[in-house]
Amino acid sequence: MYYCGLLWIVFTFVLIFTASNVSGKVHPTIGAIRWDAWNLVDAQFDPISFYSHRCLSPEKYHYRLPFFAKVLSPTNTSYNGDLQSVMDQEILYAKHAGLDYWAFDTYCTYGPNCATNSTYCLEYLQIAPHYCPRNPAYGLQQYLSSQYNSLINFTLLLLGSSPCDVAFQESYIELMVHPQFLTVLDGRPLLYLFQFTETEANLCGGGWSGSRKVFDKFRQMVINRGLKNPYLVLMDFLVPTAQSHASLLGFDAISMYALPGGTKEGSPFSDLVHVAQQWWQSAHDAKAKLVPIVPTGWDARPRFENPVPWLYEGPEHYFQPTSEELQQFFRTAINFTCQYNDTVEAQTALVYAWNENSENGACLIPTLGNGTLYVDTLSKTLPLYC
Ligand SMILES: *[C@@H]1O[C@H](CO)[C@@H](O)[C@H](O)[C@H]1NC(C)=O
Ligand SMILES: *[C@@H]1O[C@H](CO)[C@@H](O)[C@H](O)[C@H]1NC(C)=O
Ligand SMILES: *[C@@H]1O[C@H](CO)[C@@H](O)[C@H](O)[C@H]1NC(C)=O
Ligand SMILES: *[C@@H]1O[C@H](CO)[C@@H](O)[C@H](O)[C@H]1NC(C)=O
Ligand SMILES: *[C@@H]1O[C@H](CO)[C@@H](O)[C@H](O)[C@H]1NC(C)=O
Ligand SMILES: *[C@@H]1O[C@H](CO)[C@@H](O)[C@H](O)[C@H]1NC(C)=O
Repeated sequence: MYYCGLLWIVFTFVLIFTASNVSGKVHPTIGAIRWDAWNLVDAQFDPISFYSHRCLSPEKYHYRLPFFAKVLSPTNTSYNGDLQSVMDQEILYAKHAGLDYWAFDTYCTYGPNCATNSTYCLEYLQIAPHYCPRNPAYGLQQYLSSQYNSLINFTLLLLGSSPCDVAFQESYIELMVHPQFLTVLDGRPLLYLFQFTETEANLCGGGWSGSRKVFDKFRQMVINRGLKNPYLVLMDFLVPTAQSHASLLGFDAISMYALPGGTKEGSPFSDLVHVAQQWWQSAHDAKAKLVPIVPTGWDARPRFENPVPWLYEGPEHYFQPTSEELQQFFRTAINFTCQYNDTVEAQTALVYAWNENSENGACLIPTLGNGTLYVDTLSKTLPLYC
């Protein structure tokens, strides 16, 4: 009896100690990718927004439109995300969900008819034909001018070879000094880079080792500005490719943007969860440093039916997650992040996506058809602690 009581007291102490550790320090951050293609320029859809508008025009896809859209008729919708009031509301939704930051897709700005003076921006059109936004940074600008921006942090998700240009690098550093810029590992600003392969490396620095010198110089520019050594994350589809290229470039970790897949008939969300877990696990097994990708879906059927000119996407898709599935997936991701804190040394995970509504049928941004379902769902789970 006495022995049992003692055991119980010891057990209680262990519980309290564990609990205080759990609720204490370690809060892995969770970001979400922003693809801002929901804007007007001079009362017309921006060239990229033109296509996202067109592919969500059929009535069966109206449910996916962001909350600020209006349905004018069964085949006509209108919206403009480039408004302060819209961004203010998005920030409040993201805060409610419990997200820590947004990663803003960062593209070149083009003139009419894809005009550009930059060889890097010109090269991007080889990766993504006709991808010529006039105002790709409207979301970031509205975020920076919002009275609410202290509620959510931000970083950039750079695309292609333009990050090799010193002028672009200087523009990133201007943003990296912002108090809301995402940092990891005690103050290192984090940046993502995607769509950087052999072709981009050749243009950037005449190959991988030359490109490494370019990015090493960029690190030095950041440090000279009084910031810490940036934490650079390279994204690619396959773990071995991402890992070998990251190592050639001297990058700190790997990740991936999205995990396309599923079947024509539709696959259960649990299949996508398994693919994601395999990605994390194989990065861990390969002793890579990782930022786990947390995809909430994949369903590019609107783009299959009304193609976008910069890439082909098929009808394969996953079904939307239920609230319970989404919550469980986030718990699994954070569990992995905490359990393997040597692999996920930056203690951050990245969600695909906030507003890729034409490619992902389960974006976090509130929509006409699903309302605030997903932000409400996450608000019941986040923040998560180790
Ligand atoms: C959609 O509605 C707007 C506003 O009423 C109108 O100006 C436009 O011509 C319509 N577009 C189509 C394709 O019907
Ligand atoms: C944003 O970053 C700052 C500085 O790193 C941090 O103190 C703050 O808690 C972060 N805010 C959010 C909402 O994550
Ligand atoms: C290209 O450079 C010229 C001359 O500096 C400038 O007038 C023009 O606006 C630039 N075009 C673009 C698309 O940036
Ligand atoms: C947490 O992750 C570890 C290691 O992957 C695994 O063994 C454990 O079952 C996971 N727990 C939960 C609740 O997912
Ligand atoms: C990683 O997790 C282990 C076990 O929970 C903990 O002892 C260690 O301090 C953590 N390391 C870091 C860098 O957070
Ligand atoms: C989202 O809305 C669509 C259209 O109303 C509906 O078919 C679907 O079941 C909703 N998704 C969830 C997860 O509730």
